[in-house]
Amino acid sequence: MTGDHYFTAEPATAAHPREVEFAVAGRDYTLTSSGGVFSAARLDPGTAVLLRKAELPPADTAGALLDLGCGFGPITCVLAASAPSATVWAVDVNERARELTAANAARVGAADRVRVAAPDDVPADVTFAQLWSNPPIRVGKDELHRMLLRWLPRLAPDGVAWLVVARHLGGDSLHRWLADQGWQVERHASQKGYRVLRVTR
Ligand SMILES: C[S@@+](CC[C@H](N)C(=O)[O-])C[C@H]1O[C@@H](n2cnc3c(N)ncnc32)[C@H](O)[C@@H]1O
Repeated sequence: MTGDHYFTAEPATAAHPREVEFAVAGRDYTLTSSGGVFSAARLDPGTAVLLRKAELPPADTAGALLDLGCGFGPITCVLAASAPSATVWAVDVNERARELTAANAARVGAADRVRVAAPDDVPADVTFAQLWSNPPIRVGKDELHRMLLRWLPRLAPDGVAWLVVARHLGGDSLHRWLADQGWQVERHASQKGYRVLRVTR
């Protein structure tokens, strides 16, 4: 046993690489995951709902997209495949998650368009056309709010953020909190107990 959480910076848990297979928008993905990262054994059901229900970026999307809390990189890989002209920033505090995402970006042929970074390593002048996140709820509400207050303002003026949160983990209270902060928040979809929120200025 170790004291690792999925958001531990440098997990001590044994890696045990494994393959995770899923399909989104008619495309099959086989990615590498491992111990010490979030949902190591399968595509998280919340992430699956997000990728099924939110509007994937169209193929002509340019500019930068952000996968906030990339884990082993499923959202990053789907965004990179959907928008081959965009750059995808994959950000996570967990070093192993970043390594896996970089390897998975290479597996889907997008290594040259995926920038994997720790939060402090994203240049301050990058703004995002879209922000996607299955955010870390287990870090606690204060930390979650700090994270969103840090990254949402980096959306371009006409940018959109797509978030998925389980209702029983506070999806509806997050919706209210974001609205209280002045964001336009729409419950875009609700499936299997997950809320998909569309957030704009
Ligand atoms: C719920 S997991 C989602 C992982 C991945 N996107 C997926 O769908 O499988 C949230 C991720 O956020 C990361 N995280 C936690 N705190 C963070 C922070 N302050 N900034 C960026 N990422 C963070 C965690 O390490 C974790 O990988």
